[in-house]
Amino acid sequence: MARDMIAILDFGSNNNAGIARAVRACGVYSEIVAHDVTMEQLKKMPGLKALVYNGGANRAYEGQELIPDAGVLACDLPKLAVNVDFSVDGENLPCWNGNEQNVLNVFIEKNGIERNWTMEGFIEDQVAALRKQIGDKKVLLALSGGVDSSVVAALLLRAIGDKLVCVHVNHGLLRKGEPEQVISVFREEMGMGDNLVYVDAVDRFLNKLENVADPEKKRKIIGAEFIRVFEEEARKLDDISFLGQGTIYPDILESGTKTAKNIKSHHNVGGLPEDLQFELVEPLAQLFKDEVRAVGEALGLPHGMVYRQPFPGPGLGVRCIGAITRDRLEQVRESDAILREEFAKAGLDQKVWQYFTVVPDIHSVGVRNHERSFERPVIIRAVNTTDAITASIEEIPYDILGKIVNRIVNEVPGVNRVLYDLSPKPCATIEWE
Ligand code: XMP
Repeated sequence: MARDMIAILDFGSNNNAGIARAVRACGVYSEIVAHDVTMEQLKKMPGLKALVYNGGANRAYEGQELIPDAGVLACDLPKLAVNVDFSVDGENLPCWNGNEQNVLNVFIEKNGIERNWTMEGFIEDQVAALRKQIGDKKVLLALSGGVDSSVVAALLLRAIGDKLVCVHVNHGLLRKGEPEQVISVFREEMGMGDNLVYVDAVDRFLNKLENVADPEKKRKIIGAEFIRVFEEEARKLDDISFLGQGTIYPDILESGTKTAKNIKSHHNVGGLPEDLQFELVEPLAQLFKDEVRAVGEALGLPHGMVYRQPFPGPGLGVRCIGAITRDRLEQVRESDAILREEFAKAGLDQKVWQYFTVVPDIHSVGVRNHERSFERPVIIRAVNTTDAITASIEEIPYDILGKIVNRIVNEVPGVNRVLYDLSPKPCATIEWE
């Protein structure tokens, strides 16, 4: 079913996503398109009912002002202008400052645009589209247990049932309880059974990482080994035609439109070899993160899985500073579990964007049971951000910090000190490596 939609034309705004979100918040689907989109391209967008010309700081791109396509500007679709003044037949386009939701609501009403963008509708449409695309062929998905891959799995399960095969690679760098949760949710609650392949690759990864202290080398080893393990598992399976991916809309936007700077290139499964020859299935590619979470909940995934905080691909490997050792990895895992538990008890998990612990490769002197100890410190990191490009430090009440310190030094073997990292980003990054 073609739902009504509004296209956002990118005339150099830094806030295209914000404008697209505002339109969706009114119940109307929206997509961001290049400033010089043509009528031919717009005609291929089913349900297109209006255009928003969205200007901003990057209007002059590489010294040249971005010019609207004359045919598009003159077409009879209703138009709004944000931070630009374009005119048609001597009349300025109606303005919207991008914040007043009322202006947008009146515009939607006046032009009879139907508000039919809902997550239930999205699921229904996607299930039908996936069944049509996939038929009775099989789809393979790397299921990390993160929000995006979990929601893709749940959506594919709804659409194609036992034609979905998931591979969950435990590289030994996951948080406490994570592999167990993936197995119990997908094998049991969602009924996947043996179609969820669990690969215990802990020794393989940790052996490869032995004595490797350089952060970039560690990241590369983890990424490359992940692909190798996944590829080995894929080759054991018969007649897989598709590869599922958890690509979401911000991944596409951040990879760069014509005028937006390329913030980071996203590699979802990290450059799989071409000879695997799968066709891609990316059912979340239209969704913002909060929409992905809403879809996940509507599909019956546990709240904690859908609302979990961001977690880097290399996992605890970048929080166990320098060369990874098994005992230090356990100290990271255990202290992280305590931190998460105490943050949840205090309601801080709702307030803080990302929080975790880090264990550096140093020792300090302490006292335990009246005797000298020579043990490691644990560092707590808790930051707030909207885009992960800059981040500020969250003020954690001392009584809560005190409780966490107490538990960590008493429950995590080999730890005698807890530090709180007060560095914002920049100059630090959120992760330590
Ligand atoms: P930094 O440390 O660069 O982190 O300030 C910004 C955000 O990105 C997460 N992060 C990663 N996420 N793969 C990911 O999917 C990675 O390799 C990776 N490295 C960092 C980090 O946790 C933070 O949320």
